[in-house]
Amino acid sequence: MAKQRLNVGLVGCGFMGRAHSNAFRQVGKFFDLPQDVVLKAVCARTEATAKTFAENWGYETVETDWRALMARPDIDLIDIATPNSTHAEIAIAAAKAGKMVACEKPLGRSVAESEAMVRAVEQAGVANMVWYNYRRVPAVTFAKQIIDEGRLGRIFHYRAKFLQDWTISSELPQGGAGLWRLDAAVAGSGVTGDLLAHCIDTAMWLNGGISEVSAMTETFIKQRVHVETGKVQAVGIDDASAFLARFANGSLATFEATRYARGHKALYTLEINGEHGSIAWDLHDLHRLDFYDHGDTGTLRGWRSIHITDGDHPYMKQWWVPGLQIGYEHSFIHQMADFLSGLAGTGGAVPSFREALATDNVTDAVLRSARDRQWAEVPAATGQSAS
Ligand SMILES: NC(=O)c1ccc[n+]([C@@H]2O[C@H](COP(=O)([O-])OP(=O)(O)OC[C@H]3O[C@@H](n4cnc5c(N)ncnc54)[C@H](O)[C@@H]3O)[C@@H](O)[C@H]2O)c1
Repeated sequence: MAKQRLNVGLVGCGFMGRAHSNAFRQVGKFFDLPQDVVLKAVCARTEATAKTFAENWGYETVETDWRALMARPDIDLIDIATPNSTHAEIAIAAAKAGKMVACEKPLGRSVAESEAMVRAVEQAGVANMVWYNYRRVPAVTFAKQIIDEGRLGRIFHYRAKFLQDWTISSELPQGGAGLWRLDAAVAGSGVTGDLLAHCIDTAMWLNGGISEVSAMTETFIKQRVHVETGKVQAVGIDDASAFLARFANGSLATFEATRYARGHKALYTLEINGEHGSIAWDLHDLHRLDFYDHGDTGTLRGWRSIHITDGDHPYMKQWWVPGLQIGYEHSFIHQMADFLSGLAGTGGAVPSFREALATDNVTDAVLRSARDRQWAEVPAATGQSAS
C-alpha cells in the first residue's frame, strides 16, 4: 500500500535548515514510518539562496516569502528554522492556516510570545513540535530509561553546563547572518535562551519540573557595531548565565552557559547524582554514557563508560551494527521519526509547544532573578510529557 505523503515547507536555509533537511531526507530510509516525507518547498529571502539550497537538498519548489507557504494547499508541515524573532509570527500564521508546525528553539523570544504560539496551535488543533534535539541523542534517551527504571533512586543533584568561546573578540559585530544571536531584539536573550534552554529542556525531561531559580548573568562586551546600522550599539544579551535551581522533586541543581570559556566550542555536559547511582554525559563524546552503580560488588565498584551502540540501546537498531557509533545529525533524524510516529498515534509528537513554553518559563525566571538579584519562582507548567 502506498504510504501517505507529508509535504514539508521549510523556512530558513542556515545551520538548522541544513540539519532539518538532512533529517527529512534520511528519516524514511532508516525508520519504518507510515508517511513519506516530501521536501516540497523551501523559503529564503532571496531567490538565489532558495534555489541553490533547493538544488542541493532536493526541494521541489522555492518561495521568497514564508506567507506564500501558508496559502499553498500542497504544504502539510511548516518547519521554522529561522532566527528567534520570526518564530511567533510564522508559527501563528501556520496554525491559522491549519498546517502542522515544527519550530526551532527557543519557542519565542519571551513568555508572552511563546504563550501566543501555544494558544494558536492548540486552538487550531494542529500537530506541533519544538526541535529540542538533545533528548534524541541515544545516550541521553538511555539516561532517561535508567532514571525511569529507578536505578538512580532518589535524585539529589543535577549539574549542567554549555560552554562556548566564539564571542570573546570585541571586534565581532552584532546583528545579521549568524550574528543575530548577539542582537537582543532578534534573539530575545543571550546564552540563557540559546544554550541554557537546551540544558533546561533536557533537565526537566529527565528530572521533572523546576520550581525556583537564583541566577546571575553578565554582558562582558557592552557595545558592538551593529551590522545593519553600522553604528556602535549597546549589547542587550547575556554573554554568560549561571543559576542555582530547585526541582519540584526536591533535588538541587547548578546550570552554567557562556560564550567566553576559551577552548570550549560546544561543550554540553550533564551529571545526575542519585541515592543508588549517578550518570554523566558529554556532547563531545555523545555516544557514551557514564554510569556509576552503587549496587555493584564493592571491590569492582566504579564508573563505567557505556558505548551506546548496541541494538538494544534507544534508536540504535535502526543504524549500523553494534560498536559503530552515530553523531549529532542523527538526533534530528530521531526527532523527526518520533514526530511522524506520534502523528500515527504510536508515540508522542514531543516536545510540544506547551512543553517548550515550560522551558521558556524557566529562562524567563532566570533572567528575572539575575535582574532583581533574588530568587525567582517558576510558574508551574502543565502538559510536560514523559515521552
Ligand atoms: N536545535 C539546535 O540544536 C539548534 C542549533 C542552532 C540553532 N538553533 C535555532 O535554530 C534557529 C535558526 O538558527 P540557525 O543557527 O540555523 O541560524 P542561521 O543564521 O544559520 O540561519 C537562519 C536562516 O534563516 C534565514 N532567514 C531569516 N529571516 C528569514 C525570513 N523572514 N524568511 C526566510 N528566511 C529567513 C536566514 O537568511 C538564514 O538562512 C534559531 O531559532 C536557533 O535558536 C537550534
